[in-house]
Amino acid sequence: MQYISDEKKSANTFKKELEIAQGRSATDNLASLGGTPVRTEPYPEWPIIDRRDVEAVTTAVESGRWGGSPYPGAQTVAFANKFAKMQGGGFAVPMVNGTVTMEVALRAVSIGWGDEVIVPAYTFQATATAPMAAGAIPVIVDIDRNTYCIDPVAIEKAITDKTRAIIPVHLGAQMADMDAIMAIAERHDLIVIEDCAHAHGAMWKGRGAGTIGHFGSFSFQSSKILTTGEGGVLLCRTQELAERAASIINCGRPTQLQAPEATPANSNSQTVRAFMDLSNQERVSTLGTNCRMTEIQAALGNVALERFPEQVAQREAMVNYLEERLVEIPGIRLLKKDTRHSRRSFYKYIFAIEPKVFGAKHDAVCLALYLEGIPCWTGYPAMHRYDLFQPKLSRLPVPSAFPQYFDFKAMSFPEAERASQHEAVWLDESVVRADKQGVDDVVKAIAKIQANTVPLAVANTAKKLAVKSLQFKPVRALVDFYVSQSDKGLRPSF
Ligand SMILES: Cc1ncc(COP(=O)(O)O)c(C=O)c1O
Repeated sequence: MQYISDEKKSANTFKKELEIAQGRSATDNLASLGGTPVRTEPYPEWPIIDRRDVEAVTTAVESGRWGGSPYPGAQTVAFANKFAKMQGGGFAVPMVNGTVTMEVALRAVSIGWGDEVIVPAYTFQATATAPMAAGAIPVIVDIDRNTYCIDPVAIEKAITDKTRAIIPVHLGAQMADMDAIMAIAERHDLIVIEDCAHAHGAMWKGRGAGTIGHFGSFSFQSSKILTTGEGGVLLCRTQELAERAASIINCGRPTQLQAPEATPANSNSQTVRAFMDLSNQERVSTLGTNCRMTEIQAALGNVALERFPEQVAQREAMVNYLEERLVEIPGIRLLKKDTRHSRRSFYKYIFAIEPKVFGAKHDAVCLALYLEGIPCWTGYPAMHRYDLFQPKLSRLPVPSAFPQYFDFKAMSFPEAERASQHEAVWLDESVVRADKQGVDDVVKAIAKIQANTVPLAVANTAKKLAVKSLQFKPVRALVDFYVSQSDKGLRPSF
C-alpha cells in the first residue's frame, strides 16, 4: 500500500523491488511481472454463428428485399413480434441502433427543446446524447452504490417543473429499482424510458425489462448479448406510441407495425388504403428520418432469438456460480442481488474491488487481470467527464444554449466517481461461456492478484515513475499495453 502513495521513491529502489518481485516463482508471480498467466486459452468468441445464420441471410438476400422499405418487411415484422413476446410484452419497433431508439421515444411523446430528462451519471454516453439529439437537456444524477444504477433518491431531488422523463439504465447485470422509479414517475407525471442495452431477457418481479416503463430501448450492436450486427428495438407500451415511433423512423410516413398485405380481397380496405396513401396529411406533419432496420439484420435477429433463451439460462447459472466463488476473495464487493430482479441476464458482470485491500485501484487490477488471460475492463468514465457536454468543446446546441446544466464543477457525483475512477471491474460476458473452468480461472486470477498486493503495487508505481530507465520488459509491455488500450476505456488514472 505504501508503494501507491510513495511516488517519490527513487528508480533504484524500485529496480530492487522489481527484482524481488521478479524472483518469485513464475506461477505465483503476476503475468504483468513476467509470471505465467492463469489462462492462456482464449474465451469463446462472440457472436455465435452457425448454418442457420448463413441460411437466414441467404434467404433474405435471395428474396430481393434487402432494405427496410416499405417498412416493416416480413423479416422485420417477425423479429418485432418475437422480440416483444420474448421480452414479455409491448409493441416492438425495430430500428438502426439503441441510441436512436431513445431519441425517437422522446420525440414520440413530444419531449424536445428545453425539456429536462434525468439520466444516470454512470452509463454509455448514448443515454445522454439521445435527449440532446431530441433537443432536451440531460440532467445527470448520481447512482446507487449498491447497484451502480440510477439512485431514485437523486432522481427525486433533481425534479423541477421542466422535468419530462427519466431514463434509467439497467447496467451490466443489474436492473434499476423500477418500483421506486415508476412510483416517482407517477407522482410527477413523467415518462420512463428504460435503457435496456444491457438487459435483453432480464426480468423485474416477473416482468421483462423494457415493459415496465412507457418505453424500453434495446441495442443489438455487435457486442450485445442479442446482436444483429447493428440494430435496436424500441418497445412501446401502446400501439399508438409504437406507430408514432415507427412513423418517425420511416421518414415521417404513417406507419403500421404490421403492414397489411394488399391482396385483391382487402386492397380496398381502409387500412390498406391508409398504408398506401402517399398524400396522407400526417406524412408531411411528422418530422421523420430513415432509421429503419434492414431485412438482413432482422433475419439475423430471428436466428439469434432462437438461441437466446438457452443462453440466458446458461449465463444466469454461471453468474450464480461466479458469485458463490467471488465472495471467497478478500477485498471484493459484489453488487446487490435484489430478489425483485427475478431473472438476471447480463452484458458485462460488474463487481467492485476495495483498492486498499488490493493495494491498487481498479485500473491496475484490471490490467493485471487482463494479462492473466481474463477479458475485463474498467468500465465507463463518469458522465460529467465526457468532453461532449462541455459547451466550449462540443459546440452542440443543447450544451451551448443551456450551459448552466453542464457546469460540473458545481456538481458532484461521488458514487459514479468512485465506481468509474476507483473500484469497478467489468468482466466480459464470454467468461461464463467457457463452462465452470472459465469461471474458476476468473476466480483464480483475481485471487492471485489479491495475494500479490505488493508486486501489483510495485508494478503500478513503476508505471508512475516511468520506467523507461528501468528497461524492465514486462513493465514496458504493461505501459505499451496501457497506451494501446486507452481508447478502449482502460484509463490509467495517473
Ligand atoms: C447503456 C447503453 N445505452 C445505449 C447504447 C447504444 O446502443 P447502440 O450502440 O446500438 O446505439 C449502448 C451501447 O453500447 C449502451 O451500452
